Amino acid sequence: MKLTLVVACALIDADNRVLVAQRPEGKALAGLWEFPGGKIEPGERPEQSLIRELNEELGITVKEACLAPLTFASHAYESFHLLMPLWICRRWEGPVTRKEHQDLRWVRPGKLRELAMPPADAPLIPPLIELLGP
Ligand code: C5P
Repeated sequence: MKLTLVVACALIDADNRVLVAQRPEGKALAGLWEFPGGKIEPGERPEQSLIRELNEELGITVKEACLAPLTFASHAYESFHLLMPLWICRRWEGPVTRKEHQDLRWVRPGKLRELAMPPADAPLIPPLIELLGP
């Protein structure tokens, strides 16, 4: 099965809320709430993909990010196997702007369970709550 490498990021604001983004109409998993990010292009290092994707999707410049512990998503979709590390970012420049998604929301970690998320993203919620608190 084809392997697809994706980076995703939990952007955390000063109130300890997490940014989630609603996938656009016309794309796979439309309407579901995901951690923003996207595919690692051939030749890119994952951190370069993270910086590029968050700039394209949210108009921000990531200043510092680290890999969140115990949050490497792995999910077998029908036509590919997705591997997706989750990054944590608290430092960025520029206003968060909706560029590609239907909607953006800042939510408390404990409220993430109430959102419909892609099957690769949902298992990341418990370790994220462990890390950030509810
Ligand atoms: O965003 P994009 O469509 O390029 O992502 C490629 C695939 O990776 C999606 O079709 C989706 O299945 C998966 N994905 C995911 N969770 C994310 C981002 C992408 O499951 N946060």
